[in-house]
Amino acid sequence: DPGVRSVLAYWLSLCAADSLFTCPSSCKCNSGSLEVDCSGLGLSSIPSDIPTNTRIFLFLNNKLSTLPGPVFSNLSALQRLDLSNNFLDQLPQNIFSDLGNLTELQLRNNSIRTLDKDLLQQMALLRQLDLSINGLAQIPSGIFDDLPALRLLSLRSNRLQSLDRVTFEPLVSLQQLQVGDNPWECDCNLRDFKHWMEWFSYRGGKIDQLACTLPKELRGKDMRMVPMEMFNYCSQLEDENGSTVLDNSGPPCTKGSPTPSKSKSGTEPEVEPSVGCPQKQRYRPVSVRRAIGTVIIAGVVCGIVCIMMVVAAAYGCIYASLMAKYHRELKKRQPLMGDTEGEHEEQKQISSVA
Ligand SMILES: *[C@@H]1O[C@H](CO)[C@@H](O)[C@H](O)[C@H]1NC(C)=O
Ligand SMILES: *[C@@H]1O[C@H](CO)[C@@H](O)[C@H](O)[C@H]1NC(C)=O
Ligand SMILES: *[C@@H]1O[C@H](CO)[C@@H](O)[C@H](O)[C@H]1NC(C)=O
Ligand SMILES: *[C@@H]1O[C@H](CO)[C@@H](O)[C@H](O)[C@H]1NC(C)=O
Repeated sequence: DPGVRSVLAYWLSLCAADSLFTCPSSCKCNSGSLEVDCSGLGLSSIPSDIPTNTRIFLFLNNKLSTLPGPVFSNLSALQRLDLSNNFLDQLPQNIFSDLGNLTELQLRNNSIRTLDKDLLQQMALLRQLDLSINGLAQIPSGIFDDLPALRLLSLRSNRLQSLDRVTFEPLVSLQQLQVGDNPWECDCNLRDFKHWMEWFSYRGGKIDQLACTLPKELRGKDMRMVPMEMFNYCSQLEDENGSTVLDNSGPPCTKGSPTPSKSKSGTEPEVEPSVGCPQKQRYRPVSVRRAIGTVIIAGVVCGIVCIMMVVAAAYGCIYASLMAKYHRELKKRQPLMGDTEGEHEEQKQISSVA
């Protein structure tokens, strides 16, 4: 009977679909949303039998401290991964490299102290990244280069003292950045990032308070409220010392290219910075652009005033020559007329000229 056979086939396919989504033991699963939840079970490793079509994998409040390299390699359908509240301290460089569908990655409240520069490659869809409450002291330059969709980034509650503007420039979709509760050192190294923050806020981005810890005079002040003039000495240091003022913040500079000419012509983004060097001045900072704008406006106003003065002078000259001509003619005619009539006519003509 074909009817019975098709019903059987239907039930068989349902069973097959169900068997494709078998829940790892002791985890909770939702086969509708393809979610696997292994939170709060005191686990110290990721179960190996997670269904390969899992979209959401929650592993909060466990005792995970290391991740073996290929642990997520079969989970390329994963869209949301939450490893918050564990004890992770190191992430292998390619641990997420097969998760090209990931849109949300939560690593909140672990013990991560360093990040590999290539950790977040091939994550073109990632929209949220939470690295808050970790031990990060540095964000390696280039780590955010392949995250064109990232909207929310949290670096709250780490050990960051400084950030490099160049690291954040590739985040073209970023809408919200959380940087609070870090021991920020508001010196020359943070000046370029302050420029970037101003530009980011101007573009409509939201950023929480970046409160300075050092120097003492600025303790507790929001870096964005510190006037740019406080950092004028940085340019002086740079002028006196070439471009070496940032050297203490990063790896030693490979002195391949002549740096002074580069920092002058650094407005083109195409310029490939030499490896390991502090990368500088890819765009004009806001205050420079503002200064140029002021100069242009002042020039235009001066020009208008000049033109008005020329017009007024020309008008004055014409008026004076007309009056001179009138007086000459009056003198010629005066002997023929009486005094009172002359005065009367003079007044009449002056008023008509005026
Ligand atoms: C991934 O799947 C392959 C084939 O099904 C299997 O041999 C391998 O052990 C799996 N890897 C992991 C990390 O589960
Ligand atoms: C961080 O994780 C630890 C251990 O999982 C937990 O005891 C603590 O309450 C968490 N802290 C926050 C702020 O979530
Ligand atoms: C995204 O997930 C689909 C299945 O949902 C899979 O076929 C595809 O390979 C995944 N893409 C990547 C880049 O992993
Ligand atoms: C220039 O740099 C050297 C170290 O490279 C440093 O000792 C010196 O104080 C700097 N000079 C100024 C004026 O900052």
